[in-house]
Amino acid sequence: MQRKWSIPGVTMVSVAVLTAGLSLADEDEGPLHKLMEKVNAKSTAIKKAVRTPVAYKKAQAKDEIVKNGEELLKLAKEARELSKEGVKKAKEVKDPEKKWFELMDALIAQTEKFVAVAGNSETKQKDASSAFRVVSQRCTDCHNIFRIEEEDKF
Ligand code: HEC
Repeated sequence: MQRKWSIPGVTMVSVAVLTAGLSLADEDEGPLHKLMEKVNAKSTAIKKAVRTPVAYKKAQAKDEIVKNGEELLKLAKEARELSKEGVKKAKEVKDPEKKWFELMDALIAQTEKFVAVAGNSETKQKDASSAFRVVSQRCTDCHNIFRIEEEDKF
């Protein structure tokens, strides 16, 4: 984001409040965290779209699944570059950065596969759902190693 604070209406007070809010959020929410939230939103949208034949048909008609899949792919590639931040979460991992890239590449490869599967009009909901289950497994693979507490809906 490249917002410039040149807007005349912005007073010192609101800038101060904003800055305080930002530094609070920064304590445990770095760029990776924010990116993961976006990753999660796309992943949740896809999960819903592949869950039932009816949902699948509807989402496919709007070309939603491939679009979300491609966005997920883009986000995963961005997250891959945040290895420096990611490895801070690693515990007892040998060569954590290498492991990070390995796990991200596995996620990226499977997401690419999923996009191809969903992009094929012959694909049945059941098969799209299975392909995405493997994507979700790649998420868990990394969270396990980098010791992220799995909350609920991965
Ligand atoms: C290569 C490692 C890796 C992969 C792959 C990965 N994540 Fe994460 N994820 C992390 C790390 C590290 C964090 C902790 C970031 C933080 O909170 O600073 C995290 C945090 C999260 C969070 C918690 C954010 C929050 O709101 O508390 C969610 C949700 C999440 N990931 C979803 C996903 C989903 C969905 C996928 C797969 C589509 C995925 N992740 C794939 C490493 C990974």
